[in-house]
Amino acid sequence: MVMFKVTRVESAPIDGQKPGTSGLRKKVKVFKQPHYLHNFVQSTFNALSAEKVKGATLVVSGDGRYYSKDAIQIIIKMAAANGVRRVWVGQNGLLSTPAVSAVIRERVGADGSKASGSFILTASHNPGGPTEDFGIKYNMENGGPAPEGVTDKIYENTTTIKEYLIAEGLPDVDISVIGITNFEGPEGQFDVDVFDSASDYVKLMKSIFDFQSIQKLIASPQFSFCYDALHGVAGAYAKRIFVEELGAQESSLLNCVPKEDFGGGHPDPNLTYAKELVARMGLGKSQGEQEPPEFGAAADGDADRNMVLGKRFFVTPSDSVAIIAANAVQSIPYFSSGLKGVARSMPTSAALDVVAKNLNLKFFEVPTGWKFFGNLMDAGMCSVCGEESFGTGSDHIREKDGIWAVLAWLSIIAFKNKENLGGGKLVTVEDIVRQHWATYGRHYYTRYDYENVDAGAAKELMAYLVKLQSSLSDVNKIVKEIRSDVSNVANADEFEYKDPVDGSISKHQGVRYLFEDGSRLVFRLSGTGSEGATIRLYIEQYEQDSSKIGRESQDALAPLVDVALKLSKMQEFTGRSAPTVIT
Ligand code: G6P
Ligand code: ZN
Repeated sequence: MVMFKVTRVESAPIDGQKPGTSGLRKKVKVFKQPHYLHNFVQSTFNALSAEKVKGATLVVSGDGRYYSKDAIQIIIKMAAANGVRRVWVGQNGLLSTPAVSAVIRERVGADGSKASGSFILTASHNPGGPTEDFGIKYNMENGGPAPEGVTDKIYENTTTIKEYLIAEGLPDVDISVIGITNFEGPEGQFDVDVFDSASDYVKLMKSIFDFQSIQKLIASPQFSFCYDALHGVAGAYAKRIFVEELGAQESSLLNCVPKEDFGGGHPDPNLTYAKELVARMGLGKSQGEQEPPEFGAAADGDADRNMVLGKRFFVTPSDSVAIIAANAVQSIPYFSSGLKGVARSMPTSAALDVVAKNLNLKFFEVPTGWKFFGNLMDAGMCSVCGEESFGTGSDHIREKDGIWAVLAWLSIIAFKNKENLGGGKLVTVEDIVRQHWATYGRHYYTRYDYENVDAGAAKELMAYLVKLQSSLSDVNKIVKEIRSDVSNVANADEFEYKDPVDGSISKHQGVRYLFEDGSRLVFRLSGTGSEGATIRLYIEQYEQDSSKIGRESQDALAPLVDVALKLSKMQEFTGRSAPTVIT
């Protein structure tokens, strides 16, 4: 057995290691600076309680982006030196973020061991490659991201660090080969267990969904399917699940070979970046020759986000979670005994609220950030949740889950077509969405992003809106001057959340203007941008009149957009006459 020694390396604090909403994300060249990754990893070990390090089992893997392989070898050596008993690595260092969550919660090692946490190496939907982004975050034993108490501690440690520990004499481990390698250190044995990236996750999915009914749907000539992994880690799971388990054609997979630079693309599943899929689904400017498939979906780099499309039809993420919640009990075996509750982030449309009210379900509105759902789920209060930012998931794990969302949709389509698959007319994605609108009303929805705005200007705009919101009569006077055809603002506030589980309070989570007819305007600053500030404006209009639910979204929302831009003095504050991105 190879022996190693522990070396203490002198180090000093490096600025800017404060983890954001989803860990530390920086350019690769920042991570490659001497001691940079080491300092962050040691600061994390020092922030954890002793039993989560000494003798513990740690998962280390990620979306396979550039620099992951080097980072994994460094973290293995530091884990060994810090007294970790074993490190679990997905083959080739690949594990999607939801798969890491599943592995922490479900996997049992050959010797009966269970993991107590994980370093996930990803910058999610940010581009990858030598000049792009790398990222690292720590997840806890419930499979969810470290809470703020822990990330604050990690950050504090990075500002005072003096040394880190690293194993000397421990060779690089070949992470392309499945198997366990043993080493011997001063504190005893240390193992690196390289395992199949997909099998634990596939097993979990098979315990949640009725794979047979999805197989039948996929085999049916009325149905056609297409999945785009945007060269992210979802590709590793798509092949196993959609092709090998469910019988889809290989040709239905687009960009499903994981690449270190995501093929040079931006691995974010939306109408702007998932260009190839959008074209194939008949939604692009240049319509292809072929008839588009009935169903299409895409994932981001680490496979926690999803976009769902029908033939020439876009499903908004806000509608997607509402539709999944409305159909889960009938269509998905995991939910057959009912939903414990549902939740959405504040800026996500109120489509889910209407479902919750109709089905008499517990409902929660939480600030932006998946961690808020985790607390509700740990307390058994929430089964299905989602965000406008292309995140959907359930309490099977503690991260959002891109492939789960696709399987949920396939289950719903299979259920709605139970009687049809022999030869009747397929109930399509578009039919399902339109039927949902007819039952619950439609929430027209759009988001305007103003990226890389001067940080001072963005703060001033938000401060202006906070102040304005305190006088409803002033607000209504301005609104009516802009458009007399929109309804009155009934309520406005700065969103604040008291976590019903731990009682913690999150303030300043965005400004809301709530209209009498159920429409909403929401303004908030992004917590994930890397340059300047990003202002997000969310515009939503509720329409219950079934004769008016079939309009083009941008047409229906035009009056409210007008109000939002003028009310906020967007151009005056930011100097921008148009948003950077509209979704
Ligand atoms: C990440 C988090 C999501 C969150 C999103 C918001 O993706 O995992 O839970 O919705 O960031 O980002 P924003 O830029 O709007 O703060
Ligand atoms: Zn992601």
